[in-house]
Amino acid sequence: MTNLPKDIERVIVDQSAIAERVSALAQKIDEEYADVESLYIVGILKGAFIFMSDLCRKLTTPHTVDFMALSSYGMRGANSGAVRIIMDLRENIANKHVLVVEDILDTGATLNYLTRTLGSRRPASLRTCVLLDKGRSEVETQVSYLGFQIPDVWVVGYGLDFAEQYRTLPYIAELNQAIRKKSA
Ligand code: IMP
Ligand code: MG
Repeated sequence: MTNLPKDIERVIVDQSAIAERVSALAQKIDEEYADVESLYIVGILKGAFIFMSDLCRKLTTPHTVDFMALSSYGMRGANSGAVRIIMDLRENIANKHVLVVEDILDTGATLNYLTRTLGSRRPASLRTCVLLDKGRSEVETQVSYLGFQIPDVWVVGYGLDFAEQYRTLPYIAELNQAIRKKSA
């Protein structure tokens, strides 16, 4: 790919690979929820918004969507592991089949917190669909559906940001290391 934006090092997953994988994930989810009347899809803001919208539109399983916003303490990716809810779900999920859609697994703290918190609300079932995994999760996490395993670098695009920038790039790319250090 030519003409990458400034501060983008390289493309890790291009647009067509993303589209192909999202379709495959949707197909697998449809197969496994074939007997379910309705699925309650929970997107985690902001990072999962593009992945979630593409995934939902590929599903044939009847579903509704809701969102949660979480925050980990610390700025610009500096992660202390403490997570809190900024915006909660609109509905009670008791007895619902819940599928959490998240952008990326880094330390695993966010997903771990989510599965514990939502699990305690007594859903009929709870699974997770995560677009990217950096493979360095330190805590116990259960990913039911995974998009891509990627190297342990800071990635942006397709919903993911660095200091709120680059979310709407159509591909997933590695950010130049120098800019992270500069603003850390
Ligand atoms: P964890 O709780 O350490 O697993 O971090 C997960 C959250 O950190 C994700 O939901 C993202 O919001 C953010 N994050 C971690 N790594 C990256 C990255 O490479 N790019 C953008 N956001 C990231
Ligand atoms: Mg996130």
